[in-house]
Amino acid sequence: MRCYAEDYCKKDRASCSELCGGYRVLRALYSLSRIPVKYQYKMDLIPEKEDMQSFIALNDFKENIVDHVARGEGLYIWGENTGNGKTSWACKIMGYYFRKIAFSSGLENEGLYIYLPTFLDDLRNSYNSSTPEFEEELEMVKICRLLIVDDIGAERVTEWVRERIVSIINTRSANGLCTIYTSNLSLKGLADKLGDDRISSRIKGSVTEVNLLGMDKRGAVL
Ligand SMILES: Nc1ncnc2c1ncn2[C@@H]1O[C@H](COP(=O)(O)OP(=O)(O)OP(=O)(O)O)[C@@H](O)[C@H]1O
Ligand SMILES: [Mg+2]
Repeated sequence: MRCYAEDYCKKDRASCSELCGGYRVLRALYSLSRIPVKYQYKMDLIPEKEDMQSFIALNDFKENIVDHVARGEGLYIWGENTGNGKTSWACKIMGYYFRKIAFSSGLENEGLYIYLPTFLDDLRNSYNSSTPEFEEELEMVKICRLLIVDDIGAERVTEWVRERIVSIINTRSANGLCTIYTSNLSLKGLADKLGDDRISSRIKGSVTEVNLLGMDKRGAVL
């Protein structure tokens, strides 16, 4: 049995069991969040020199995540380079949120991860035939306290896609809900790509922007 609290729980390991309250709550939160398995456990992210300040800002945001969620203050993590920690940071922050709320959460509507291009494909397909799982995900996108929108700007842009993204962002900001975005584009680049200022301007009003400059570390032995 592997526990999400394995790197910080102070309990004697000999007493670990699947009946442990913390183990069960964290499993439920992670399962409902749909964070990809690869990003679920502790990740040691090491900054390159040019990313020192950004890592401090990300760590600071993480430490205060419960307050940020309560106030609907989001984050926009972007970097032109692939594989330099954007998705990892977003999931690390959500994991820390789960750690902080585990014992006060009623489990419902806490955190959800979506990979935006796939989510939009699923949304389009759902008009013909939907599944209960997808309907649940769609509902969570609108109401969960913390949402990760991974890789905004990587989707194929159509009028339909633009309107769906505006609708998601509007619904969340109108309800004061916190969203963490990752992207390979700056907010200006996102406006250019989408050919529409409405999305980037709405995002800008609700996030702290953090730029990562480090090189691609996918597959690197560090
Ligand atoms: N600063 C870092 N220190 C150690 N490992 C890192 C760092 N940044 C990224 N990695 C590792 O590199 C891999 C890719 O990271 P991640 O998926 O977060 O990149 P990304 O910026 O989201 O990439 P993309 O732009 O392609 O979506 C992961 O296995 C991650 O753990
Ligand atoms: Mg990514």
